[in-house]
Amino acid sequence: MKFKIAVLPGDGIGPEVTAQAIKCLEAVGETFNHQFTFEEAPVGAIAIDQTGDPLPEATLELCKNSDAVLFGAIGDPKYDNDPSAPVRPEQGLLKLRKELGLYTNIRPVKAFPSLIDRSPLRPERIKGTDFTIYRELTGGIYFGEKKLNKEGTVASDLCEYSEAEIERIAHQAFKAARNRRKKLTLIDKANVLETSRLWRKVVTKISESYPEVALDFLFVDNAAMQMILNPSQFDVILTENMFGDIISDEGSVIGGSIGLLASASTGDKHALFEPIHGSFPQAKGLNIANPIASILSAVMLLEHLGLKDEAMALDCAVEIAIKKNIVTPDLQPESKFGTTEVGDQIAELLAINGEDICVN
Ligand code: IPM
Ligand code: MN
Repeated sequence: MKFKIAVLPGDGIGPEVTAQAIKCLEAVGETFNHQFTFEEAPVGAIAIDQTGDPLPEATLELCKNSDAVLFGAIGDPKYDNDPSAPVRPEQGLLKLRKELGLYTNIRPVKAFPSLIDRSPLRPERIKGTDFTIYRELTGGIYFGEKKLNKEGTVASDLCEYSEAEIERIAHQAFKAARNRRKKLTLIDKANVLETSRLWRKVVTKISESYPEVALDFLFVDNAAMQMILNPSQFDVILTENMFGDIISDEGSVIGGSIGLLASASTGDKHALFEPIHGSFPQAKGLNIANPIASILSAVMLLEHLGLKDEAMALDCAVEIAIKKNIVTPDLQPESKFGTTEVGDQIAELLAINGEDICVN
């Protein structure tokens, strides 16, 4: 089959890790006889440098006309400490999510058995951890009205949610839970926030349509603690935009490196796949960034395209590479494998073993 993939490498280590995901998708194409065409476009700080706009119209058009979007990372230190910057790289990603209608952000978190000793948490705590965060991605405080008074002394960001916005992602999360261990935890701050109380009401109502799924609730402060104390209790976590942003970085600690966590952002029409990590500017050009989060995002991309065997094969190739200690220095300080070497090895494992890779 033929697929057109829009590639938005972005800033910092984005281009380096995305190149490895493309390498692996090309290996999948050859092994399974598919034709992927990759078309690149700028986003983020690099797009501001080139065009003045963090999401140029042509980039958005390309994404709209592709079967899927493979995204790298955005962000540049020159904007981070400049509160008065008129345009910021992050605006590119936020606008892209909104314009493509990507309201469901799926972030799987698991402890790879062969990396269990690399986690800063004790092995017995994290053993068996395997949960997925469903983060609402186009609403809440990220997108509410922002204000700053004339004097620049008082600021506000509005957090707003409608019933419809909560319903559509809740259905996605319940369906996922139904196919997993049948537990859904809504994370909120319903003891304080009106929006959280609306989430509880809507999600409780929707749970009636999914009687096989057990629903429970946690306040976000307690959830942050529970994720470290006993992460294997979670199956599917459903939460609003900002809480999801924060707890997914926290979740990345469990597996030993944020460089392992992939994500899919989906809506009714489009889908985008990106590592959850940022642009890690300190590592740019050093060939040390972990490409696995990007490669696992490509696994999610394959699943989205309906290529299940292909997705499983690439997932197995990653798992074998990790087992063989073919990992970047974030997981193995003395490692001789850099970003490109890990990408090469995973693509090669897939090409050599073909469809049989998962039995090895
Ligand atoms: C993420 C990132 C983004 C977010 C930033 C870059 C806008 O942290 O995808 O988690 O906050 O959503
Ligand atoms: Mn984040």
